[in-house]
Amino acid sequence: MSSSTLSLKSTLPLPNSKHEIPRLGFGVYQSHDQTCVKSCLTALKAGYRHIDTAQYYANESLVGDAVRQSGVPRSEVYITTKILSPGSDAESTYKSVVESVEKIDGGKDGYVDLFLIHSPNGGRDARKLMWQALERARKEGKVRDIGVSNFGKGHIKELKEWAEVWPPAVNQIELHPWCQQRTAVSYCEEKGIVVEAYCPLVRNQKADDKTLKALAEKYQKSTGQILIRYCLQKNWVPLPKSDTPSRIEANADVYGFDISKEDMETLDGLDQGDKGAIVQAVTN
Ligand SMILES: NC(=O)c1ccc[n+]([C@@H]2O[C@H](COP(=O)([O-])OP(=O)(O)OC[C@H]3O[C@@H](n4cnc5c(N)ncnc54)[C@H](OP(=O)(O)O)[C@@H]3O)[C@@H](O)[C@H]2O)c1
Repeated sequence: MSSSTLSLKSTLPLPNSKHEIPRLGFGVYQSHDQTCVKSCLTALKAGYRHIDTAQYYANESLVGDAVRQSGVPRSEVYITTKILSPGSDAESTYKSVVESVEKIDGGKDGYVDLFLIHSPNGGRDARKLMWQALERARKEGKVRDIGVSNFGKGHIKELKEWAEVWPPAVNQIELHPWCQQRTAVSYCEEKGIVVEAYCPLVRNQKADDKTLKALAEKYQKSTGQILIRYCLQKNWVPLPKSDTPSRIEANADVYGFDISKEDMETLDGLDQGDKGAIVQAVTN
């Protein structure tokens, strides 16, 4: 997509859904206490309309507080959370999902836009319990769309064995030039599953990479802005995190320029496969 059409307001359609997902998200992993509230408020003021939290981050209520304080209507903010592990049975797993919804949006008609299984690592029974709990919450309107995270091709296919809702709306995985997870990404693209990029900034660990620095100089942007723009041009939904107001703003200032096809290919050439992951590469 060219710079003239892509903006902070751009969205992507989701499979099995009438809802769309904003193409830039704001991550809040390791954002705690009032810092989390302040960062979300700064992000919403800067124009982000999509926040990515999780049970594991222990800040779902803080994200909810920030959205309420911001004055931005709930219907205009896209909120994602993730279930970390199942309870001992279907009912307790479902309860855990509902508790998250209540923390984020406790009103009578409270909902979250997207609820993901955080990780496939708990095993087949865990994946089944969590997916069925998410399906129930979706049916009841507490959750609009459901998806997965850290899932490889095999895990996504396996869901079909018991899923009423398939494919999952999104798969959130680690993605940046050094970790491109091509098998999982092309499978998702083939099935219409939206691909979300976590650690899109590689946690700033590649700020001194020569190729990246040269491109930042060429486009007169920061290395972070190049990395986020790279994700957007790949059709991935990047979820940059920051608790630094100036960085929160800069990370959303990624429009009005295009990385050329040739320079996208140069960035593609940095892929190190699974070795490039700083958190986790999926198992396909
Ligand atoms: N599903 C999963 O398993 C999973 C795993 C990891 C992450 N995630 C999601 O993806 C989000 C992003 O991933 P992440 O937080 O791990 O990593 P990230 O977004 O790649 O990097 C965040 C780090 O980079 C720093 N930073 C942010 N903007 C910067 C800039 N413009 N220049 C220099 N440094 C900058 C931040 O520092 P300051 O905060 O100090 O500014 C923070 O330390 C998470 O918050 C979470 O929502 C999901």
